[in-house]
Amino acid sequence: MIPRVTIFSTMTVDGRIASKTGYSKLSCPHDLERLHKLRATHDAVMVGANTVVIDDPRLTVRLVPGKNPTRIVIDSALRTSPSSNVYRTPPPTILVTLRENLDRAATEYPKGVNVIGVPAGPGGVDLRAALEQLWRQGIRSILVEGGGRLNWSLISQGLVDTVKVTVSPTIFGAGTSFFHGEGFDGESQRVKLRLEEVVLCRCGQEVHLSYKVVEPRILPIQAE
Ligand SMILES: NC(=O)c1ccc[n+]([C@@H]2O[C@H](COP(=O)([O-])OP(=O)(O)OC[C@H]3O[C@@H](n4cnc5c(N)ncnc54)[C@H](OP(=O)(O)O)[C@@H]3O)[C@@H](O)[C@H]2O)c1
Repeated sequence: MIPRVTIFSTMTVDGRIASKTGYSKLSCPHDLERLHKLRATHDAVMVGANTVVIDDPRLTVRLVPGKNPTRIVIDSALRTSPSSNVYRTPPPTILVTLRENLDRAATEYPKGVNVIGVPAGPGGVDLRAALEQLWRQGIRSILVEGGGRLNWSLISQGLVDTVKVTVSPTIFGAGTSFFHGEGFDGESQRVKLRLEEVVLCRCGQEVHLSYKVVEPRILPIQAE
C-alpha cells in the first residue's frame, strides 16, 4: 500500500516553477495561505533535495491554524545540509536516502531526523519503495511541494493521485518545469488528467486548478 499523493506547485504561464537562476517566488499571499491550508490537511509534505538546497524551506503551517505535517526530504546522495531548516526545527523530518548511506546519515544529521534507506530507482531513490515504507510508518497522505524533478519522477511512475497548480501571470522563458524530466512523446504515452476545480484567486490575477489523475495513471494511447 502507498499513501495518497497530491502535487502542488505554483508555476508561470510557460509552466516553470523556477527561473534559470532558481528564483521561484511566484505565490501571492492568498496562494501561500492555500498552500498552508493544504499542508495542515496532509499527514506529510515531501520535497526533493534541490528544493531544500536552493530554498531552505521550513514546510510548516504558519499562516493558518492547523497541525504541522511530518516533513519528508528525498535526497539520495545526502546533499542537503544537516543545518537546513527542515532538520533543525520541529516537527520531526524523515530523510529518504539510498540504503548504503544509512550509516553516514546517522552520524551527520541531527538525532531527531528519522532516516529511511531504500534501493536506487529512476531519478535517484526508488520512490515506490519509499512510499511503501512511509505507509508502514502510518503516513496516509502526502503533499508534494516540488521541485520539478521529484514531480516528474512521481508522475511518470504512476504514483500521483491529484495535481494542484496555481498559475501566476508571469513568464520565465527557461528554468525548471512543473514536471521536469525526460518527458513523454505525447503520441503513444502521456499522463491524462481530469479537471476538478477552477478557482480565481482572491488577488484576481492567479488561477488555481485542481486535477485528478485519470486511471490508469499513465495512459498508452490507442492507435486509431
Ligand atoms: N514554484 C514552486 O511552487 C516551487 C516549489 C518547489 C520548488 N521550486 C523550485 O524548484 C527548484 C528545484 O527543483 P528541481 O527539479 O531542481 O529539484 P527537486 O525536485 O527539488 O530535487 C531533485 C533532486 O532530488 C533528488 N532525488 C532523489 N531521488 C529522486 C527521484 N527518484 N526523483 C527525482 N529526484 C530525486 C535528486 O538529487 P540527488 O540525486 O542528489 O539525490 C534530484 O536531483 C528550485 O529552484 C525551487 O525553488 C518551486
